[in-house]
Amino acid sequence: MRYLHCAFGYLLLVAGARARHSKLFTSQPAFADYPFPTISIECTELGPSGTYLDKDHTSEGAGLIPALSWPSPADDTVEYLLISEDPDAPIPESVTHGIYYRIPRDKTGVQHPDFRIKKKSWEPYMLRGGFKYGKNRQDSVYVPPSAFFGQGPHRYFFELVALNDSIETDNMSVLATRGEVHREIIGKVAGWGEWVGVFESP
Ligand SMILES: *[C@@H]1O[C@H](CO)[C@@H](O)[C@H](O)[C@H]1NC(C)=O
Ligand SMILES: *[C@@H]1O[C@H](CO)[C@@H](O)[C@H](O)[C@H]1NC(C)=O
Repeated sequence: MRYLHCAFGYLLLVAGARARHSKLFTSQPAFADYPFPTISIECTELGPSGTYLDKDHTSEGAGLIPALSWPSPADDTVEYLLISEDPDAPIPESVTHGIYYRIPRDKTGVQHPDFRIKKKSWEPYMLRGGFKYGKNRQDSVYVPPSAFFGQGPHRYFFELVALNDSIETDNMSVLATRGEVHREIIGKVAGWGEWVGVFESP
């Protein structure tokens, strides 16, 4: 069953790629020079991109963000940004489940504890992983995938973006929005990669 799920998820990825990719963060103008992924992202706790999320990675369980890993940074990488989004919601825009920025260049992955809020930080919205989170639809660190009855499977994209210059936070809200983050990375994108988890209400 798990194998079937995985294979189906992969087909969905291939079939849906063309139709729905335009909603994704990585389809926006900042990525004009990078239409295809350049960084390989792994999720050893769940499996290859296109795998179905297990219960603990959805709102029905612990609601964990998949732990991801990637290779050492390219020479020009200054920092990373990570976004989690669902382009398959039946609305015109992709739903942002989480957005994380100023991820230090020396990180080659993110683990569950990285996403806990850092208390007593002089900077608001700081996480223990040493980076900040931006605005999702609940103003929380992460909104785990939840059931949408009768909609079929949704794909949850986790996109890591390498930047060759740091994000300027002066003109962003304190809880930065997806649009503000996009505006601030124009001319700074130096590569990206993605991992996709699939979830369908049981
Ligand atoms: C912030 O926005 C103002 C007005 O658009 C602009 O003049 C300024 O250069 C921007 N600052 C940064 C750091 O981008
Ligand atoms: C970052 O990369 C872009 C090309 O994507 C380039 O135009 C820009 O000059 C680079 N910035 C730095 C600081 O190297």
